[in-house]
Amino acid sequence: MKTPEAFLAENGLPEARDIDRSSLIAAFISEMEKGLKGEPSSLMMIPTYVGVDGKVAPGTKAAVLDAGGTNFRSGIVTIPPSVEDRKNQPMPGANGPVDIESFYEAFASEVKRVLPKATARKIGFCFSYPAEATPDLDARLVRWTKGIRADGVVGQYVGRELIKRLGGGEIAILNDTVATLLAAKATEGEKTYSSYVGFILGTGTNCAYVERNTAIEKLSGLDPNGKMIINAESGSFNKAPRSSFDLAIDAKTMSPGDNPFEKMIAGAYLGPVGHEVYKAAAREGFFSKEAAERIIGLASLKTMDFDNFTAGCKVEGRANPLDEIFAKPADAKMARRLGLPVFERAAVFTAVHLAAFVIKTGEGASSSAPVAINADGSTYYKTRAIQFDEMVRRELDDMLVKRRNIHYELTPQVDDAPMVGAGIAAML
Ligand code: GLC
Repeated sequence: MKTPEAFLAENGLPEARDIDRSSLIAAFISEMEKGLKGEPSSLMMIPTYVGVDGKVAPGTKAAVLDAGGTNFRSGIVTIPPSVEDRKNQPMPGANGPVDIESFYEAFASEVKRVLPKATARKIGFCFSYPAEATPDLDARLVRWTKGIRADGVVGQYVGRELIKRLGGGEIAILNDTVATLLAAKATEGEKTYSSYVGFILGTGTNCAYVERNTAIEKLSGLDPNGKMIINAESGSFNKAPRSSFDLAIDAKTMSPGDNPFEKMIAGAYLGPVGHEVYKAAAREGFFSKEAAERIIGLASLKTMDFDNFTAGCKVEGRANPLDEIFAKPADAKMARRLGLPVFERAAVFTAVHLAAFVIKTGEGASSSAPVAINADGSTYYKTRAIQFDEMVRRELDDMLVKRRNIHYELTPQVDDAPMVGAGIAAML
């Protein structure tokens, strides 16, 4: 019988050591360049009109909305970074379809709650979905990701629509990767970095980085000496090879074909990919008959359960279906062996992703300061199956430092980075 690794490779899911990192990095950079020129590319490369040079006055308080993956948070942000008067609720449209009015009403009522406590005039709004940015920091929603159902909002200028319903005001909208980049920039203290990458690996994934205006060929009339943050929407990168398991889950999502890269590495999808691996392995005879029948019959697999099981963690008070299905030691061992490569591929792809953006900043040569990478998101920090952060660093040391002599630093995690960054944007 073939090994589980051979079975995975035959289905297009290679072992970490067999992933061709260099050609993926090259493909990423080529897609970035095309996107900046306005040529067809899987990367939107959205100019944000946000730079990294502004200074915020300490003590200012900004009202902030944070429409993230499936959560909608709100509160008051102060610098040095802290968040007060928080509220957390489900993102409108995350638990079933909503119409336009109820969508904006959810945000308008939170603005009314927090704005009276703010000293900054502008409202900061972190909006973690693909949206075109305007020079006055409004955002036109291109399409929903993360399963949000509020169809009427697609194509709308979200800031303008919200202001209409508030009867006036000013809003600065930015993507969560842009906010994360700004948040860490504001907390760097004594350090200097030559450039910045903002990275999210949570429900979804994406990168923002700092680009020279002269490279943004699709826009004319920009200050040739200036730089701005680009929101790459890198979850939609389509040059990484997909396995039959990825194709199977993609077909079952609400947006088949969209965000293929995100669907291989982000939190919303690792569990479903793992489930496809298990089902296919069960049909190939890798499990006992009983386990095979039960895993094929399981309705769905949550990333958290897949992760905890692969890590060998039992969480008090949380029944994990995999603990029962793979109760026999031989099944459990096999299931872990088949599950680990899903996480390892995610870590290698994460590193490739980050390396490509660090390289694209054009900074970090040994004669200059390192490029800062500010990472945020539950999948990056909470995955247990592998030492995710450590594996990414090891990969980056090899891809960037050893092979290219480019220096980087993963900055300490900033609490509530998306909210803090949105607050900074409101204060600038
Ligand atoms: C999805 C969104 C993107 C966001 C990312 C991380 O890919 O399209 O805008 O930055 O998730 O939350």
